[in-house]
Amino acid sequence: MSKNILEADFLNKMREIINYMWEKGWDERNGGNVSYRLTEKEVKDYVDTEKIKEKFELEAAIPGLAGEFFLVTGSGKYFMNVSKKPENNLGIIKINQDGSGYSLHWGYENGGQPTSELAAHLLSHQARMQVTDNQNRVVMHTHATNLIALTYVLELNSKTFTRKLWEMSTECLVVFPEGVGILPWLVPGTEKIGEKTAELMKKHPIVIWPFHGVFGTGKSLDEAFGLIDTAEKAADILVKVNSMGGANKGITDQEFKDLAARFGVEPMAGVLE
Ligand code: 13P
Ligand code: ZN
Repeated sequence: MSKNILEADFLNKMREIINYMWEKGWDERNGGNVSYRLTEKEVKDYVDTEKIKEKFELEAAIPGLAGEFFLVTGSGKYFMNVSKKPENNLGIIKINQDGSGYSLHWGYENGGQPTSELAAHLLSHQARMQVTDNQNRVVMHTHATNLIALTYVLELNSKTFTRKLWEMSTECLVVFPEGVGILPWLVPGTEKIGEKTAELMKKHPIVIWPFHGVFGTGKSLDEAFGLIDTAEKAADILVKVNSMGGANKGITDQEFKDLAARFGVEPMAGVLE
């Protein structure tokens, strides 16, 4: 631990991406939260991991994440302030050896704790680590405007939502062939919404919370942001198309199949005829 954390690549990437989210208009006030799984080596270059600022218990233990480090946004912290004052708005936590709690090693300088959606983040990390051979490092929750708007008009099931988004932009099938998962409306900030989100994360890299927002995942901050940005762009187009009276043409099932074959992806079962 000798280097200045304000020069760490992982911290600066987090600041940059959170700024993009804010500029997109997705993260009003403290809306949204991001967690980034770091390696012990990355953290140790900048933080004394022997020093514990505070300890917290988890509502339910997550032994699968024992010993893992996460850079995570603080609860109630405004996205517009993260880049200017990362030390107040972000924290680095380590899950303890039995997964029953975690320790804070850096951040939340003016007080605070990780996001109220920590259960959804940690359980989603665990699920995605299992299905991506440990590749997945980022979970991102945001209040993407058009995806939320669509939850008021589209049928709330995964197949309908996936098909509608795929239809709005040719790249969608290639970027998220596994489709989007949809939960029923649930109270946010609870263990239950965390468990339900993680269950869907075993099948989909992106999960929508109706009338609230979206959870996206990826190997990197770029990938998680890019995934949500792609789905949100398709949602934006669908809102415009619906506002113009609805589509009168589009990509056919055969064309979707040709697209999947060209890019070597397996479309989510049951979406195409
Ligand atoms: P936090 O400020 O606790 O991260 O909550 C924001 C949010 O989007 C809840 O769903
Ligand atoms: Zn939210």
